Amino acid sequence: MSSRVEALLAQMTLEEKVAQMVQIPYAQMGRKEALAWARRGAGSFLHVLGDDAREVQQAALHTRLGIPVLFGIDAVRGHALNDHATIFPSPLACACGWDPALTREMGRVTAREVSADGLHWTFAPLLCLSRDTRWGRVDETFGEDPFLTGELAAAMIEGLQGDDLAAPESIAACAKHYLAYGEATGARDAYDSSVTCRKVREVFLPPFKRAVEAGCATFMTAYGAVDGTPLTADGHMLRDILRDELGFDGFVVTDWANVTSLVTRQHVAADAEEASLLAAQAGNDMMMNSPEFYECALRLVREGRLSEAVIDGAVRHILGVKERMGLFERPEKPENPGCIGCEAHQQAALDAARRSVTLLKNDGVLPLSGVRRLAVIGGNADDIRAQYGDWTYFTHPTPSAKHPPVRPYTTIREGLEALARERSVACNYAYGCGPLPSERDDLDAAVSLAREADAIVLVVGDEIRQFGEGKDRADLALSGRQAALFDRLRALGIPLVTVLLASKPLALERVAEASDALLAAFNGGAHGGQAVAEVLFGEVNPSGRLPISFPRHSGQVPVYYNQLPGWHDGQYCDLPATPLFAFGEGLSYTAFAYDSLTFDARTLTASVRVANTGSRAGRETVQVYFRDEVSSVLTPVKTLIAFAQVELAPGEAREVVFHLRREAFSLVNREERRVVEPGSFVLMAGHSSRDEDLLSVRFTLEG
Ligand code: NOJ
Repeated sequence: MSSRVEALLAQMTLEEKVAQMVQIPYAQMGRKEALAWARRGAGSFLHVLGDDAREVQQAALHTRLGIPVLFGIDAVRGHALNDHATIFPSPLACACGWDPALTREMGRVTAREVSADGLHWTFAPLLCLSRDTRWGRVDETFGEDPFLTGELAAAMIEGLQGDDLAAPESIAACAKHYLAYGEATGARDAYDSSVTCRKVREVFLPPFKRAVEAGCATFMTAYGAVDGTPLTADGHMLRDILRDELGFDGFVVTDWANVTSLVTRQHVAADAEEASLLAAQAGNDMMMNSPEFYECALRLVREGRLSEAVIDGAVRHILGVKERMGLFERPEKPENPGCIGCEAHQQAALDAARRSVTLLKNDGVLPLSGVRRLAVIGGNADDIRAQYGDWTYFTHPTPSAKHPPVRPYTTIREGLEALARERSVACNYAYGCGPLPSERDDLDAAVSLAREADAIVLVVGDEIRQFGEGKDRADLALSGRQAALFDRLRALGIPLVTVLLASKPLALERVAEASDALLAAFNGGAHGGQAVAEVLFGEVNPSGRLPISFPRHSGQVPVYYNQLPGWHDGQYCDLPATPLFAFGEGLSYTAFAYDSLTFDARTLTASVRVANTGSRAGRETVQVYFRDEVSSVLTPVKTLIAFAQVELAPGEAREVVFHLRREAFSLVNREERRVVEPGSFVLMAGHSSRDEDLLSVRFTLEG
């Protein structure tokens, strides 16, 4: 640890040290109390912008030691809690791009805008996996796969933190929520994840390991529990694994009120003191919104129940990050309001939105051509709140942000109207219905309007009351009157394109089968509507690939691709085993063909040839999976270990080469050790995780 941090620590009173471990929620606390906390030396504040933040920082700088405050915010898809910032697609939508460079750029833009607002730190990226998609927070994840999640997360961290964490436009990232939060039993938010430590190491730890390797400055402890132990109280996960094994050297912040919850929700502590003791000993360095920790920790140390060395350790981690960030030299980020929401950043968000659109079915109706009258139907076609989804200034208002929607943004309706105008296509809109029943519902009017058209675009999905923290769904079927609206439109016999604007995959087997085309837009951000319109009219050739599987029915989840073998009959008696749409799947307006897969087991080099056999230029995502044929524990039927993108002109072919590491073929054995077990394996490469999309070769790995 640095001499400056040690010197500072030596000067600090116990009160000053414990205060560093406290993170205060500005909006909840209110200005007066927040300022009192700043004078007491609180280490960090969250959800505060602009002049309010500056006032807090000045108060901190005028304390005895003048230790700067660290300001944190949930900038999870751009600096979206600021109403003038650039709003990117949700992480799930972004992940459809399967492109670390794109995600890195999203991180860069986010860092520029957050720092331009005088803030230092975002609670992103989220590394939980969405395997039981009834969970309310699927939209915040990069999907279901540990490898893809790790790659995108590392890119996001690099983008946020830049080459130098102390640079004016760099901010600290936060890998959250440590650990297995998305795997809560029954998809019940913040509930217990009934998984063993072996399973944690096999599936949930790898993305977090990747985050440590990428230099992530902070980690956030999950709300939930693993096998009955709340993460907040889990020293094995926080100290033995995260610190000692993975070598994490930043600081750990709890999630919201985690310390309080040990008493009030999880009942593993009798009172606030016991909870504070558990949290500090387990290895949480900073307590988010559990201000009672301050008095409790002071008492615990004074009474000799908590060693001051534990407090010193935590404060060292916090000051270490503050030092790495250059806060002691420059506590305030140089403000640059002009960069917030600027044109170049909007362009980056538009690029990300274009790359997120995933075409799942096309019987030939797309791209729209020869259409003279287009009907656009559905509440979500023209609802910017639904298009944004979670974690924007609508859903998490900060004191200084306004709530009415702030331009620029384009809904799907607006995007289609603009492109239709250029093509002299008549484009008319009817609401029909939204995801939840309302007084605006009017199916008859929508059907009458659609009857006059020669193509229909129906937008269905969900809205913010159906997802987010604590909003898990038992039923993933289309809600409200959307299925009824679909049936009535389908009955008209007019070409029908369905667009899913939703936070996550919904169970829409019947709709998918009966639509002439289907595309997933998820939550596309400010320019999601333009991106969808460009794909529908063929200006953009879609290249999105699913980072998550679509179930046929809610009862089929979890339906992730990397299932374990051994299920008698391999399917439900009333449903096939296969998902409706598989991980990695996504169509293009051109076609790709694969051949010549080879794998050299000595150099661990794979090679496959991919050709564009259609008539348009397109981008293909080449995916590489493996299977361990005989292993000491159950291992997945396939596991993603590499991917790459190629842009191919019509008729062009390219050999794509992958240099793999031996560890890619590892498993976690019964002793919880990650090992490669020699023997025979299968390597697969191709267009998606579906068997029929993959070429395969067998090979042997020696001991
Ligand atoms: C609770 C959420 O679980 C977490 O993701 C977020 O960063 C914090 N609150 C702060 O808003």
